[in-house]
Amino acid sequence: MAKLWKGRFSKELDERVNDFNSSISFDSAMFREDITGSIAHVMMLGKQGIVTQDEAAKIAKELAAISDDIEDGKLAIDPEAEDIHMFVEEELTKRLGDLGKKLHTARSRNDQVAVDLRIFLRKRIDEIVGMLRKLIATLVSIAEKNLHTVMPGYTHLQRAQPITLAHHMMAYVEMFKRDMTRMFNCFRLLNECPLGSGALATTTYPIDREYTAKMLGFDAPCSNSLDGVSDRDYCVEFCAAAALTMVHLSRLSEEIVAWCSWEFKFVELDDAYATGSSIMPQKKNPDICELIRGKTGREIGDLTTMLTMLKGLPLAYNKDMQEDKEAVFDSVKTLKQCLSIIVPMLETARFNKENMLAAGKRGFINATDCADYLVKKGMPFRDAYGVVGRLVAKCVQKGATLDELSLDDYRAESELFDEDVYKAIDLIECVKGRKAIGGPAPEAVQKHIDKIKETVLKDWSEQ
Ligand code: ARG
Repeated sequence: MAKLWKGRFSKELDERVNDFNSSISFDSAMFREDITGSIAHVMMLGKQGIVTQDEAAKIAKELAAISDDIEDGKLAIDPEAEDIHMFVEEELTKRLGDLGKKLHTARSRNDQVAVDLRIFLRKRIDEIVGMLRKLIATLVSIAEKNLHTVMPGYTHLQRAQPITLAHHMMAYVEMFKRDMTRMFNCFRLLNECPLGSGALATTTYPIDREYTAKMLGFDAPCSNSLDGVSDRDYCVEFCAAAALTMVHLSRLSEEIVAWCSWEFKFVELDDAYATGSSIMPQKKNPDICELIRGKTGREIGDLTTMLTMLKGLPLAYNKDMQEDKEAVFDSVKTLKQCLSIIVPMLETARFNKENMLAAGKRGFINATDCADYLVKKGMPFRDAYGVVGRLVAKCVQKGATLDELSLDDYRAESELFDEDVYKAIDLIECVKGRKAIGGPAPEAVQKHIDKIKETVLKDWSEQ
């Protein structure tokens, strides 16, 4: 196909260069955004008398028809076109003749692609925020059902102190809440309109950038045209927010992989969300979690692609920037896929409270509480720590737990021990005692849940 820019060239493009240069295979995903941007642009041209009002109306109407035809499958996007911007303009000219050729007045593909990508990302951010909210709602609902489900909290993957499943789930709620804020921040920063920046230095036509910015839902036009066409910070920020969200999904997935193992057996995934082995008939594998963990690498790769693409670029537009879209699109697609699959997986997972409690009973996770018991009776903490250390050693020798030791065993180490020590080291009592803000006590976790419901989940209803 003859290029729109062929004027100063005397030869056809080498076919390999043509393929190498083309972005239609991926930027066709932005056909809606491209047409939305073009309609705003041509309406502005009409309002400003750069084309007549009648011409503007005709072009806008035909652009809308092209969008509908692509949507309905009546118009196929030509894989031979250089990019989506060229395709739409060529199609418009096919339909309107010379009138179609007026669309690109006072504009360049450089500001066009920048506005398209920003509009594209805004919608995806909205969708991702909605999905994060659903994930948070799911975690909160697991937490609400498990305020008293005692399990060991870990450090170094060693059983450390007693917590509850609710407390554990609410830790992830905080991570995903921050991810939502990062997505909002990305939206806020990208919401300036590059249209009218032209190729790099605006234009001599009397354009109205405020008008197009407003029409396209932006807060304002970008303040510098060089920056307008060459800024891809929002792609970096989106990929960074997406990568960190994936890191959080990956950490949760890693825990579920461990919890599904026979070594833990804290959770059983629904059969619809697990897979089998082709050779080992007994296997039930948490593939979804492993894939999420694996795909996190892609998201980190997408962020690296964006940063590396930008780091050496002089102002303003450079063709390197065409590489932004595949990274951003992959980042959007991967994150949305993972969010949509982890929610039903969590909703249908069955947590094994007995095994969690049993794990809590072994591993001396109440040892700190035992020391605190002595402190409350007047012993300095470091001495109490020493006493309990010796008691733990005694337990290890006997193969017993702290609550299985006799009062005589306790008294042999310190006269301060009494019958009430057994209550002090009871796991649920240990949890209940940790009621500081952010702690695992059911009342503290309930307060956290209430706060999330009043803020993040306010006006939230299942969609
Ligand atoms: N396909 C191009 C991109 O994605 C559009 C902008 C082309 N601009 C240019 N000066 N060649 O970046």
